[in-house]
Amino acid sequence: MLLGVNIDHVATLRNARGGNDPNVMDAVRICKICEVASITTHLREDRRHIKDADVEAIRMLPRVRLNLEMAMTDEMQEIALRLRPHAVCIVPEKRQELTTEGGLDVAGQQERAIEFVKPLLEKNIEVSFFIDPAIEQIAAVAKTGAPFIELHTGRYSEVFGTEGEEQAFQDLKGAAIFAQNFGLKVNAGHGLNYQNVKRMHEIPNLTELNIGHSIIARSIFVGLERAVKEMKTLCEG
Ligand code: PXP
Repeated sequence: MLLGVNIDHVATLRNARGGNDPNVMDAVRICKICEVASITTHLREDRRHIKDADVEAIRMLPRVRLNLEMAMTDEMQEIALRLRPHAVCIVPEKRQELTTEGGLDVAGQQERAIEFVKPLLEKNIEVSFFIDPAIEQIAAVAKTGAPFIELHTGRYSEVFGTEGEEQAFQDLKGAAIFAQNFGLKVNAGHGLNYQNVKRMHEIPNLTELNIGHSIIARSIFVGLERAVKEMKTLCEG
């Protein structure tokens, strides 16, 4: 499995003091040295961490694959069409949430989703939808023409190590296999850490894991390069 590193929380720390420390681009360069598959950033409506200028600067870097997480809004569509990131992951967004709390309801806005991704796909942007492991959501993504889903691993991560783990894990695994039978490729992410990531190898053919919080948290103690390399080793198995 490939590793995409979500660097949003480098920006969270930077923004706490309003300056440029820690420098987001330094974090990107370290991830590049570690040869991660993607740099993932979530440009939120309220710009609470990553800012437009960050995304633009990352996009300009040679040999860095940008995976832009964004809400299904006209503003974000315009940004994506202008910057043409390598990949876009469409996520739900609520202003008050601490982080992305659940998957996007694609089935409940099927027509909007089809129209939204059309120009992105025409620009050869690799589109994924961030969804819960639910059959109706997978079927809805398949109808949009997007080649990828990203499975929300938040529930699995929450109950990891408790009696709920097995069910949450089987839900993910079943959803991944179901999606692959539909011809979709499958990424996963949210809440994954150095322990719970290991079971992702039991799910066949996952393409990429997008992981942020646990890596940035560990980097405080061991440095970013080591934190990324350790996670990359776990992903590559
Ligand atoms: N994937 C998606 C679609 C996300 O929204 C997030 C959080 O921004 C992540 C992965 C990374 O989650 P975490 O920071 O919990 O590793």
